[in-house]
Amino acid sequence: MKVLGLSFSSRRSGNTDIMVQYALKGAKAEGAETRFLALADIELKFCKGCMACVFKDCPCVIDDGIHLLVEEMRGADAIVFGSPVYVLGANGLVKIVQERLVRFGTISRDFAGKPALVVASAGVRGWEQFALPQLATTCLFLGMRVVDQFVGYGQGPGEIFWDEKALARAAEGGAALGRGETGYRGSPGACPACHFDLVSVNVDGTGCCQLCDLHGSWVKSDEAVTFQPHPQAEPRWSELRRRHHVYDVVLPSGPRFRSRITDIRNRLKSLDLASH
Ligand SMILES: Cc1cc2nc3c(=O)[nH]c(=O)nc-3n(C[C@H](O)[C@H](O)[C@H](O)COP(=O)(O)O)c2cc1C
Repeated sequence: MKVLGLSFSSRRSGNTDIMVQYALKGAKAEGAETRFLALADIELKFCKGCMACVFKDCPCVIDDGIHLLVEEMRGADAIVFGSPVYVLGANGLVKIVQERLVRFGTISRDFAGKPALVVASAGVRGWEQFALPQLATTCLFLGMRVVDQFVGYGQGPGEIFWDEKALARAAEGGAALGRGETGYRGSPGACPACHFDLVSVNVDGTGCCQLCDLHGSWVKSDEAVTFQPHPQAEPRWSELRRRHHVYDVVLPSGPRFRSRITDIRNRLKSLDLASH
């Protein structure tokens, strides 16, 4: 097993790096070959929205560190994703990488099926709500199998050493990757697809996971209220829905757009954008 650890933090040897390293230590103890990559060390520019990677199924046209990252991810059997929490969510680098990998969430499936561990480091309990869903979205979009997802707490760089529970969980998650496990071992959450509690509560008793677009009903028993997806409902990450999204929605937008280019140019002229 080859386990790759990706840290999205710009603070080298900070809390995220440490959590990812603990996960790699756990993987190594199971005999895995491990590798750590700090994404802040490689140049990653913003996606420029050309869509060539999707419409032409080609590598990203921007010549920067994304190609190294893709090769590293291709060479790994399992991947640890770690981000610091910035303003309730994952940091900006996570979004940059998600966008730069859009080809692999749509047309190419190089990473589908690979197991992943998702960790975030936060400074303050209760100020981290969107970090895990954002970071795990990277894995769900790529078709990877998340084995665990959790937050560790440490404000100053290195203070994560005092969150022993999080470090132990990182090592256990890493060990699971090292053993080649793919089953989910984390907290169940309301949604059976992403395991987050992002399911809406609608007055008619229905609900929908806002991350997975999974529709269903809330069912009350004596002990609990649980979200039950409709029998035919599938999360947006399913293979069926991905294919529909790519081949029935995104790709057909190409010819439609081309047929409108002259009209768009004429309408732009009337806006006189150049003068702004
Ligand atoms: C710009 C910025 C925004 C932050 N926002 C939050 C936040 O919303 N919630 C939180 O719990 N911690 C926040 N923090 C603290 C970091 O999440 C925390 O220090 C984390 O452990 C940093 O990980 P690192 O050492 O890998 O950089 C913020 C830190 C920075 C620099």
